[in-house]
Amino acid sequence: MNEIKKILIREDELKERVKDLGLRITADYQSSEGLILIGILRGSVIFFSDLARNINLKNVVFDFMTVTSYSSEKSSGEVKILKDLVENIEGKDILIVEDILDSGFTMSLLKEHLQKRNPKSMKVCCLLDKAETRRVKIKADYAGFGIDNDFVVGYGLDYNQNYRNLPYVAVLNPSVYLKKHL
Ligand code: IMP
Ligand code: MG
Repeated sequence: MNEIKKILIREDELKERVKDLGLRITADYQSSEGLILIGILRGSVIFFSDLARNINLKNVVFDFMTVTSYSSEKSSGEVKILKDLVENIEGKDILIVEDILDSGFTMSLLKEHLQKRNPKSMKVCCLLDKAETRRVKIKADYAGFGIDNDFVVGYGLDYNQNYRNLPYVAVLNPSVYLKKHL
């Protein structure tokens, strides 16, 4: 498949790191009365479901939101909430599960929004962290892998809604998205 430039993170590497994250989260929330995992649709779906199965705690609740800040390969710098939570998060420990922190706009606006609902605690777990392209000051409490400024797909991440089903994280060949503008 020449649309894929290279495989950046293999399946076995993903599996191992997600297991580590699950162990850390399990340890950190031992005294929690209940943890709400908030998956950000759609990019976090694969990561979320693998991560959740590596969290060994009682009273783990799943909820999901859809937010958008991206039109294609470049950030628009705006976040819209398209689907809100079902659960009331007031007084609860919440952990936001996201595919990637890039500019950080999506996450910082989302955190601001959720903070107003007074959760007991709020942390962020992201699979990938592009620290180099950050434009607002925000750090993930748990991050799987730091990556360079390449556009990546797979393991939930998309380009124009495609490639999410790849079992690995790959760098997309720029010709895929440059082609569109020719
Ligand atoms: P941010 O607001 O710039 O941090 O963007 C975060 C969102 O942009 C993520 O939730 C992804 O949906 C998307 N995104 C950022 N970088 C990539 C990438 O390399 N591949 C696919 N999606 C990306
Ligand atoms: Mg996303």
